[in-house]
Amino acid sequence: MKMMVTGGAGFIGSNFIFYEQEKHPEYQIICLDKLTYAGNLATLDPVMHEENFKFIKADIADREAVYEIFETEHPDIVVNFAAESHVDRSIEDPGIFLTTNVMGTQVLLDACRRYGVLRYHQVSTDEVYGDLPLDRPDLFFTEQTPLHTSSPYSASKASADLLCNAYHRTYGLPITISRCSNNYGPYQFPEKLIPLMIANALADKPLPVYGEGLNVRDWLYVEDHCAAIDLIIHNGQTGQVYNIGGHNEMRNIDIVKIILEQLGKPESLITHVKDRKGHDMRYAIDPSFIHEELGWLPQTKFRDGIKKTIQWYLENRSWWGNIVNGEYQTYYERMYGNR
Ligand code: NAD
Ligand code: DAU
Repeated sequence: MKMMVTGGAGFIGSNFIFYEQEKHPEYQIICLDKLTYAGNLATLDPVMHEENFKFIKADIADREAVYEIFETEHPDIVVNFAAESHVDRSIEDPGIFLTTNVMGTQVLLDACRRYGVLRYHQVSTDEVYGDLPLDRPDLFFTEQTPLHTSSPYSASKASADLLCNAYHRTYGLPITISRCSNNYGPYQFPEKLIPLMIANALADKPLPVYGEGLNVRDWLYVEDHCAAIDLIIHNGQTGQVYNIGGHNEMRNIDIVKIILEQLGKPESLITHVKDRKGHDMRYAIDPSFIHEELGWLPQTKFRDGIKKTIQWYLENRSWWGNIVNGEYQTYYERMYGNR
């Protein structure tokens, strides 16, 4: 079996490659990645010289390049993680989100039609459902919840999902879609909440909490997401959407306080800054369908996952140190300088 993982030099894609190498050592894995600011080849060091692994630098929105790769490699399974993934960047500049997340997905779908695949899996997000009110803890996102996006990022992801459904219905392409809640774990780029707060706390810098910090996210350890995708690819029904989440809803402010406590740093580092535009209040996944259909359940409790994650950032300072000392400085200044 030959599996193409797009966006495999990013956070979840790299964790997925490591997961697949353990679970299916007989598979050939091709990672296709543009290596944007969020892609890091060093992350793939542990697999780079494996015989069953190949890295190809390419843009999923470059039709000619993608067709050429399919022509040579003929993947059986395509798992699309490649995306612009940061909501704040999409608010600043939506264009590239449409190019990569929508047009890039279309190019991959066309390539799958043209060359034939056993499965195309689209890695989507719970953000396509919009948000839920804080005073209705009884409400959850199911696979039937209507799409209702808030940010250019979530709008681009929802558009890609619609294209996948259309290619299934119109051309019979064997697609599946997963919509997961917030991930955390090793190799997450330090622009996202958890690694950003860990990095700032370690440097005794202010921890920028948007607004009051009362927004709720449903946190899932990255390996549990990878396990769910693996199950969907192998046992899921084509044309089906699967929600993935672990009923682990937490307020941002509480996450930040846990990180400070674990690192022995004072809460006085918390700084409330101007809120994100259009900030979604609460995400909460109902994962009963994937549980009933495929037997998936998360394995990592948040209290263990966050300890493992903090430990990983402590032990791998060079990985994220290189990032925060580079071009990221300019981004940070732009995003947080006058906030
Ligand atoms: P990330 O930003 O860490 O990684 C994205 C990867 O895609 C990078 O390696 C980047 O170089 C690559 N890439 C970007 N544009 C590309 C292009 N045009 N062609 C080829 N490669 C390109 O993202 P992530 O957090 O690992 O998210 C991966 C996927 O999972 C995304 O589709 C995202 O929408 C989805 N998702 C993320 C989360 C989360 O909490 N991080 C939750 C649910 C779903
Ligand atoms: O829900 C899944 C989504 O989770 C994925 O689709 C996205 O790719 C991923 O980036 C993530 O989106 P969020 O916007 O929820 O994640 P982020 O880490 O950017 O922010 C989490 C929460 O923390 C959010 O309410 C905003 C807040 N926040 C974030 C940052 C970076 C802060 O308060 N301060 C910060 O500096």
